[in-house]
Amino acid sequence: MSANAPIRQWQGRHVWLIGAGHGIGEALAVKLAKLGARLTLSGRNPYALQAVAARCAGTAKSAPFDATDAAAWQAMAARLDAEGGIDLVVLLAGDYLPLRAWEVTPEAARKLTDVNLMAAFYLVAACAPIFRQRGKGGIALTGSVAGVGGMPKATVYGATKAAVNHLAQTLYLDLAPLGVGVWVINPGFVRTRLTAGNDFAMPALISPEEAADAIVAGFAQGAFDIHFPRRFTTVLKLAALLPRRAWFWLMHKTTGL
Ligand SMILES: NC(=O)c1ccc[n+]([C@@H]2O[C@H](COP(=O)([O-])OP(=O)(O)OC[C@H]3O[C@@H](n4cnc5c(N)ncnc54)[C@H](OP(=O)(O)O)[C@@H]3O)[C@@H](O)[C@H]2O)c1
Repeated sequence: MSANAPIRQWQGRHVWLIGAGHGIGEALAVKLAKLGARLTLSGRNPYALQAVAARCAGTAKSAPFDATDAAAWQAMAARLDAEGGIDLVVLLAGDYLPLRAWEVTPEAARKLTDVNLMAAFYLVAACAPIFRQRGKGGIALTGSVAGVGGMPKATVYGATKAAVNHLAQTLYLDLAPLGVGVWVINPGFVRTRLTAGNDFAMPALISPEEAADAIVAGFAQGAFDIHFPRRFTTVLKLAALLPRRAWFWLMHKTTGL
């Protein structure tokens, strides 16, 4: 049984992508445009959004805003609802900083938490009442496999992504019975500017286009948890079931940290 109603037909569907100016969001925008979706592309950099919109063959309009601004979420959601409604909102905006325990600062913690986690709450506050009233719509949040268990250098990032996974499950319980889909996208390593600074070999690294293909395939399957590449994420998710002692050993062993 599918958790969500499978999405196989994108023609005319209005998708609001936040974090569409680069990386996975950019590749997903281009892919969904090819499949006929009507797109609203958001992020902070208007020039990046316009460049992506130009690759989307006239189906996309750009709507820049900062996802850490709660009031902007409210205004954007109300506007898009008034302009014809939102079928699916996908939050891909995110930030990453590799931080060991002794490198965490309040500023860094707030910076990552604001965009990775608070933005998800702002999305829910802006969109869930609209979707509830309409009895349709969909919310896709983005976690990471870094959220499945403690990992070196993921002090703040991993905690925000674990919280996003928890939030998505809770949203699903409330919203799915109302006819509103909820998904959580959990990528492994994807070659984007987010991972460009990593100084370690990234296992099972994939391109943003492969990530976009996996996301669309996940929607088509009606999966709740869209994780990829499976050869990496499945192993990690199984490892996360191990007793903590074994998990800690595995993390030290595989990362050398
Ligand atoms: N790459 C990976 O290996 C990987 C793995 C697991 C999870 N993820 C997650 O996947 C998502 C996409 O990551 P990516 O690798 O594609 O990164 P990316 O290439 O850096 O793209 C991130 C996007 O988010 C936007 N963004 C950042 N802060 C924002 C803000 N405050 N308001 C609005 N938009 C904002 C950026 O545009 P502007 O700078 O123009 O605002 C950009 O378009 C993130 O949630 C990330 O945590 C990535």
